[in-house]
Amino acid sequence: MSGKEKSELKLYISQDKISNRIKELASEINRDYKDRKPIFIGILNGSFIFLSDLIREIKIDCEIDFLKLSSYGDEKITSGEVTLLKDLNCKIENEDIIIVEDIVDSGLSVKFIKNLIEERKPASLKFVSLLFKNGISNLDFEIDYIAFRIENDFVVGYGLDFAQKYRNLKEIYVLSNNN
Ligand code: IMP
Ligand code: MG
Repeated sequence: MSGKEKSELKLYISQDKISNRIKELASEINRDYKDRKPIFIGILNGSFIFLSDLIREIKIDCEIDFLKLSSYGDEKITSGEVTLLKDLNCKIENEDIIIVEDIVDSGLSVKFIKNLIEERKPASLKFVSLLFKNGISNLDFEIDYIAFRIENDFVVGYGLDFAQKYRNLKEIYVLSNNN
């Protein structure tokens, strides 16, 4: 990263904080799903790093699959429309499903996912999100496991992008407004 680019980013959540919090969430999931075999469904692209760290703290048997939804494009706000770009490969009827999201902002994506998954009659459905934007989401259901609640800032790093950039950063940063 060049010096100019770096100055646009403000460190928000460190690697240590992320990994400690993931261990806490994973131990809750290990406890809640004892003797079950959940399928973790990562929402591409943003959740891929979070899912890979989370899953390595999961001690129970589990499976993994992915869904890909339309992204924000190169914008910082939702287009208001969510479409499915890649469907699941696995059957989920009568399975315990855990959706893994990078961030819940407007809530449109998780609402879309909830409808899609529930139509397929899973045994149970829960949501885990690395980040949850306070004061924005207007959801009529709970996100079951949230690593961090954040303010209404646009954040990048640790899988999260702006126009496909910054996913490779190890920490979470606030991207300043001049972008
Ligand atoms: P929602 O549908 O508005 O809740 O947004 C969900 C998706 O938008 C997330 O899975 C992210 O891919 C993207 N998104 C929302 N807020 C941010 C952000 O602050 N940084 C990067 N991506 C974001
Ligand atoms: Mg994104």
